[in-house]
Amino acid sequence: MFRSWWLLSAALVLAGSSMGVLREGNGRSGRNCTAHPPYLPPTAVNTTAQLVALRREMTARDIHAYIIPGTDAHLSEYIAPRDARRAWMTGFTGSAGTAVVTQTRAVLWTDSRYWEQAERQMDCNWELDRDSSINSITKWLIQEVLTGQQIGFDPFLFSIDTFQAFDAKLAPANRTLKSLANNLVDKLWVDRPQIRPDNLTCLPDSVVERTWQQKVEEIRQQMRDNPYKPTAVLLSALDETAWLFNLRGNDIPYNPFFYSYTLLTLDKIWQPPLTPRLRLLLLRLFVHNQRVPEELRAHLSVSPTCEGPLCVQLPGYEEVLPHLRAYVAQPGVRVWIGTEYTTQALYAIITPQEKLLTSNYSPVLISKAVKDEKEQTVLRDAHIRDAVAVVQLLHWLEKNVPGGQETELTAARFVEKCRSNQKFNKGSSFETISASGPNAALAHYSPTNETCRTLRVEEMYLVDSGGQYLDGTTDITRTVHWGTPTDFQREAYTRVLMGNIEISRTIFPAGTRGINIEMLGRRALWELGLNYGHGTGHGVGNYFGVHEWPVGFQSNNIPFQEGMFTSIEPGYYKENDFGIRIEDVAVVVPAKTKFGHGYLTFDTVTLVPYDRKLIKTSLLSPEQLLYLDAYYLKIRSILGPELKTQKLHDECDWLMRNTEPFLSGATAAGPNPTATTLVVMVGLLLAL
Ligand SMILES: *[C@@H]1O[C@H](CO)[C@@H](O)[C@H](O)[C@H]1NC(C)=O
Ligand SMILES: *[C@@H]1O[C@H](CO)[C@@H](O)[C@H](O)[C@H]1NC(C)=O
Ligand SMILES: *[C@@H]1O[C@H](CO)[C@@H](O)[C@H](O)[C@H]1NC(C)=O
Ligand SMILES: *[C@@H]1O[C@H](CO)[C@@H](O)[C@H](O)[C@H]1NC(C)=O
Ligand SMILES: *[C@@H]1O[C@H](CO)[C@@H](O)[C@H](O)[C@H]1NC(C)=O
Repeated sequence: MFRSWWLLSAALVLAGSSMGVLREGNGRSGRNCTAHPPYLPPTAVNTTAQLVALRREMTARDIHAYIIPGTDAHLSEYIAPRDARRAWMTGFTGSAGTAVVTQTRAVLWTDSRYWEQAERQMDCNWELDRDSSINSITKWLIQEVLTGQQIGFDPFLFSIDTFQAFDAKLAPANRTLKSLANNLVDKLWVDRPQIRPDNLTCLPDSVVERTWQQKVEEIRQQMRDNPYKPTAVLLSALDETAWLFNLRGNDIPYNPFFYSYTLLTLDKIWQPPLTPRLRLLLLRLFVHNQRVPEELRAHLSVSPTCEGPLCVQLPGYEEVLPHLRAYVAQPGVRVWIGTEYTTQALYAIITPQEKLLTSNYSPVLISKAVKDEKEQTVLRDAHIRDAVAVVQLLHWLEKNVPGGQETELTAARFVEKCRSNQKFNKGSSFETISASGPNAALAHYSPTNETCRTLRVEEMYLVDSGGQYLDGTTDITRTVHWGTPTDFQREAYTRVLMGNIEISRTIFPAGTRGINIEMLGRRALWELGLNYGHGTGHGVGNYFGVHEWPVGFQSNNIPFQEGMFTSIEPGYYKENDFGIRIEDVAVVVPAKTKFGHGYLTFDTVTLVPYDRKLIKTSLLSPEQLLYLDAYYLKIRSILGPELKTQKLHDECDWLMRNTEPFLSGATAAGPNPTATTLVVMVGLLLAL
């Protein structure tokens, strides 16, 4: 699934199309606040009561405006229901957007992907501002709030950068940002969802190469090697602590994370996870300590008698602020943080400046990006089982769509069920995007009862889905057509495929940044004046987030190194008509080159063929065809035997039919091609 950054023009096009499509179902889908009486669709939420209550709290604290972001205290991409404060206040559930409330007005800022949704979900208490930049919010605040008046915010929900962007505009205008560590929304939200009571789990040894003790030692070594001599590392992103200790939880849908921070010092690790930040819920500290069962305490060497640098203490999630404050108060300390995932609440404590060492990403996030041998092996394994599920889906759709009974939702449920039958499966890694015809042209479309289309042989269909497995996280998109695609559809599909292939087969010096390769994914489309409005790929984790920073093709991603996994996912979207995306996951591996050393390339670990019907082979270069044939041969040799082992014989036949070589004379190997065939193919590829 692509990460959501949008070229402005593409975003506008998509927003336009979204209006067209969503209106189709129920006529008037958005609210109309100028009508008398105002028209509210059934999807709108009455927010009068929460606004009255919030305004009362604001008055009591002499706050003139209150900012409500949509993130959590770990700046997570996906949040738990209990962190959906902005959604609870506004009714708007989209993943991006900021709300601000004053005594007289309430405004939501969100980007074009979500305008239509906001109009359907918000009541007339709320205005929608379509310029979602921080600049637009601060301009509005300066108009609405007088000099000297206070603008309240929760420092746990502001990244350092976001806070500085607000402050840079508001401070010169004499509007004061007032940090309120007790969130006002939480105070009002009586039926706020609880933290899940489930215990944390430790990864099985079979998927782990490095113990947490080894990882801690690696990070400590990086601290010792760092010229600025940090004495501690503070970890705020949820996957950082989970990775370091080889632990997983289930606090956030689709993500095996648990609420946590870690303070790792050169001689002591303080790890205060597991309880809610809210003082109101202090009683639960005990309950959430219970989420660490005895065997995990042993795993973590939590014991009063444990001595030495590898004993973990569990002070409680709430304790991170006092512990950090006490640590920073000591002379001679310096705390290393990754600014991308640290909140203003923690950052503000680390003063004076000489006690702070910042980098964009913490050393843990950088280390985690390069998978060790075991992580690489098991992540490849997870992709084999995942490919079984996707092949089952494609085979099933081909058989059943002509019957006219299948829908976007039944297809999504089918692939989810197939995944759940695979070993180690832990559910989906994100909400399945199952989109037919014009729905596939929408950003972030997932089918609902209202929007769901019946699948038809004359429409293109896009399915972007992924699984969580104990050994890895997967993410794959395939686009198919069961009837006769138009010439334009074939051309667009083939050019998207060319983009995928060109990135996948490129050879580059170690340390090359994704941003410098990215245009290879667009070039074939650009030649026709076509493009796509999202990123070209993102890191993926080992039973972690499906979007794993900081690997990928954007300007703020780190250079590629051997052992990193990334998705490669160019696309093309024609508004009100169809959408194409072809997404594979690949690992960075050494490349054999005739001369220099230290060159790298990608090895695709996703093992599902593309739709032959949509490929115009005449557009492909000989190198691209050879690449495709080698890829198909690899799919046959790895996935064929797996399908047989799982007794999926029809699916295996389907696979053979759909992985026939494109080049005449290429070896039409059976499901168990000899190693020699592979070597010959790869040799041919390298010779070119
Ligand atoms: C809202 O209602 C008013 C009054 O009935 C009408 O003039 C206007 O066109 C409506 N706006 C939309 C967007 O439907
Ligand atoms: C919204 O809720 C308030 C009370 O919380 C009620 O007075 C009001 O009538 C409701 N508005 C609508 C449009 O239902
Ligand atoms: C801000 O306040 C200071 C002191 O009260 C005053 O000198 C200054 O002119 C004010 N600036 C603006 C832009 O209002
Ligand atoms: C969590 O672990 C504790 C202690 O081992 C155990 O008593 C409890 O039943 C576990 N809770 C769940 C939900 O598994
Ligand atoms: C969607 O429809 C199905 C089947 O009619 C129903 O079981 C389900 O509850 C509906 N979901 C929603 C969110 O309305």
